[in-house]
Amino acid sequence: MKLGVLASGGGTNLAAIIAARLPVSVVVADRPCVALDIARAAAIPSELVARGSFGPEFDRLGYTQRVVAVLKHHHVDVVAMAGFGTVLAAPILDAFPGRVLNTHPALLPAFKGWHAVADALAAGAAVTGCTVHIATAEVDEGPILAQEEVAVVPGDTVESLHERIKEVERRLYPETIRRFLEVEGELAS
Ligand code: GRF
Repeated sequence: MKLGVLASGGGTNLAAIIAARLPVSVVVADRPCVALDIARAAAIPSELVARGSFGPEFDRLGYTQRVVAVLKHHHVDVVAMAGFGTVLAAPILDAFPGRVLNTHPALLPAFKGWHAVADALAAGAAVTGCTVHIATAEVDEGPILAQEEVAVVPGDTVESLHERIKEVERRLYPETIRRFLEVEGELAS
């Protein structure tokens, strides 16, 4: 089972996936980012599939097809989104049915979307956390594979809370991906 990781940012989840020695065959980014440097430093193939645009004219379908082509070229079986900043269109789910994973910094179904940490804080939640799930056509939905709670503490900012959530994600996501790869590998053999 080969893993493709999609990332756009600091790549600390990617680094944890690599440190866990999961079989990453390619890292794809949608913009220049630290995650690409992390892949290069680990001598893992990486590709920048740059978005032409971040505006309304963005060709989401065409972009998704470009990402799928790269993943297929690297013989990826399972895709792990790790802070990927582009919502992909249906072809990614068609190419990897039931095999696109995501980590989200909240206890889904609570606080979906890009601002999950800020929204939990603004809502006065005493507890939030993270969720690893299988991606489906609706963003931040799909079968939940693992969840873990993180307490909100007095004085928390979006940054401090997100960092504590990410500490948990960096353990939970690699663990969950490993389990998923094992099960999928057994089914495929
Ligand atoms: C994580 O909190 C993930 O849940 C969210 O983006 C963050 C990525 O962090 N989707 P990093 O780039 O792995 O440090």
